[in-house]
Amino acid sequence: MTTLTPPLMPEGASAPARADAGLRPRPRRLRRTAALRRMLRETTLDPSQFIYPLFVAEGRGVREPIAPMPGQYQLSTDALPAQAAELRALGVPAVLLFGLPSSKDAEGSQAYAGDGVVQRAVATLKDADPDLVVITDVCLCEYTDHGHCGLIGPAGDVLNDPSVELIARTALSHAQAGADIVAPSDMMDGRVGAIRALLDEEGFAETPVLAYAAKFASAFYGPFREAADSAPAFGDRRSYQMDPANAREAMREIDLDIEEGADLVMVKPALAYLDLIRAARDRTDLPVVAYNVSGEYAMIKAAAANGWLDERAVTLETLTGIRRAGADLIISYHAKEVARWLREP
Ligand code: PBG
Repeated sequence: MTTLTPPLMPEGASAPARADAGLRPRPRRLRRTAALRRMLRETTLDPSQFIYPLFVAEGRGVREPIAPMPGQYQLSTDALPAQAAELRALGVPAVLLFGLPSSKDAEGSQAYAGDGVVQRAVATLKDADPDLVVITDVCLCEYTDHGHCGLIGPAGDVLNDPSVELIARTALSHAQAGADIVAPSDMMDGRVGAIRALLDEEGFAETPVLAYAAKFASAFYGPFREAADSAPAFGDRRSYQMDPANAREAMREIDLDIEEGADLVMVKPALAYLDLIRAARDRTDLPVVAYNVSGEYAMIKAAAANGWLDERAVTLETLTGIRRAGADLIISYHAKEVARWLREP
């Protein structure tokens, strides 16, 4: 017979029951009252830890609900100042912008157009609230007519280096529009280094790069692709996004992005990858960001709409888990609701 824990008292101890009780570990002592539990909480949630994603559409007066993401909308730029004001009132410091261009082509030229939808959105938001941290998602998939994150070669494969060139141009155009942080999400090799070099060359040495470092080819992006109209027209993203089975490779991707100059690193998605958030946290002193992605949001919303889960409790528990795993910041569609919930007693 094996004993996992040593007996609380030595075998045959004849101490009176009182002393015996004194030696027995009693962790529940520290959970007795709400005040004790609050004081001893190891992991906290605060609105300041959140980044709120926004989908920006062309046109005016657009407020198009995103069906698989209840509570989220495609918004035109005129709606953005109100968003900035709302986030400021809630204490959420940052947004992550995704663009929905009115026209797409093989090269994703609207991604790096000076007057593109994201570039105008950045300017609008910085104008409305210079203190709002505006982060831009840097990718081609919302802008290419084939929906891939890079250029397609003659053999139908996604080309690396020519794509990196356009991705760096996209990042530069966002910085020029006033973005506070650029966040490449394409997973091409070498794009962080290329972005860093181009930003430095063009006078944006102070613009940080948030690298989607360990980004997996995940089915949890389904609702997002509907929101951003960015599903690939053929094939899938598995030749550039990572295999969900690979943890060591994720560390390699993180190391490479840091070597290339990343200022913050991201693990995405969050829930099925909590081990990698922890591993990233233990590996680097850079800020670690986790993306609580669209499918993770949709699952909770769907269960809550059916009355199967308590949305508030489950969301706060989930986000606490992501923080406990080691994330400093969380990109979440729940950010506004969380900020409201955290305010309530
Ligand atoms: C763009 C991008 C995607 C997401 C963020 N940036 C989609 C994808 O890679 O297919 C997904 C975010 C989410 O699901 O919330 N490459």
